[in-house]
Amino acid sequence: MGAVILGTGSCLPEKILSNHDLGKIVDTNDEWILSRTGISTRRISGQGEATYQLGAAAARKAMEMAEVTVEEIDLIIVATMSAHMLMPSCACFIQKELGAVNAFAYDVNAACSGFLFALDNGDKFLRVEKGKKILIIGTETLSSRTNWEDRNTCILFGDGAGAVVAEYQDNERGVIASNLLSDGTLWNLLYMHTAPSCNPDLQLADNPGSHILMEGREVFKYAVKAMEGAIRDLLSRENVDMDSIDLMIPHQANIRILRKLVSRLGVKEEKVFINVQKYGNTSAASVPIALDEANREGRFKRGDLLLVCSFGGGFTWGASLLRW
Ligand code: COA
Repeated sequence: MGAVILGTGSCLPEKILSNHDLGKIVDTNDEWILSRTGISTRRISGQGEATYQLGAAAARKAMEMAEVTVEEIDLIIVATMSAHMLMPSCACFIQKELGAVNAFAYDVNAACSGFLFALDNGDKFLRVEKGKKILIIGTETLSSRTNWEDRNTCILFGDGAGAVVAEYQDNERGVIASNLLSDGTLWNLLYMHTAPSCNPDLQLADNPGSHILMEGREVFKYAVKAMEGAIRDLLSRENVDMDSIDLMIPHQANIRILRKLVSRLGVKEEKVFINVQKYGNTSAASVPIALDEANREGRFKRGDLLLVCSFGGGFTWGASLLRW
């Protein structure tokens, strides 16, 4: 049908930052963070855990599960907004790290929706280039893009990576369809500058540095509405009803966003995979990390119908349906 996932992998940095630890950095506390976000801990990268290194480690685990060698990989698509360099891409660094000599590689930036957009890219590539094998990776070190003095944002994010190996198969398995959307007019509700421009004419007076800025309440409202709309449209287009979904794997931004979304959709909570309490919002890495954990915990089996959805800066959002 479409891109069939042959293996999943993830990699989380060793260092754990608790809400209690954050209370020593900014004016906050465990009770506030937990009740507003559902997050207890997040992982923070140290040396040897750069964005591309986490991504490569996740990719190795996915290839191991898929029983695919690195030489068999034809394409590497990496979703990230926190690579350690703007150029070359994070994907090229991962290619080098893995020794994927037969692959071409590029990055996708759709903020927290990046993995869904990359999966759709990969799916469409495989439907044309049948017989190829690809790696799709979401990897982030948002700790490097967080203002550690801003309690509105620094409590939310974490580092990590997730990866999948995929190929086309002529059967009922794989990505069925995706519904991806963007609205650039809402960019200023969630954004991050680059380094200041070297061209004085293009310098922005209000560039405070390359870290995340957010209007939390607005983002919250849009996120719920947007993901609900994307999911309803996708399911109705594909003639699938909500009860046929075996497991929903949403972007892990905030437990309150997830609970509201799930209750509006009428999905039972036991059919939703949630790990935001452990890792916070890992942006483009959140869906593939959750997919890998759910896979390794045996939360779904061959033939199950999975629904993934995401929302992020841009705004970007969407949903995908997969037959495992
Ligand atoms: N600890 C303690 N108090 C905090 C705090 C923190 N970490 N962060 C903010 N506050 C304070 C605010 O200063 C404000 O105080 P005031 O009333 O004296 O001004 C109060 O708490 C309420 O702030 P508000 O921003 O209205 O809180 P909220 O209920 O909207 O929760 C978020 C804030 C960020 C948790 C919530 O808006 C949210 O989850 N938004 C979505 C964010 C997200 O998921 N973004 C990524 C999407 S991909």
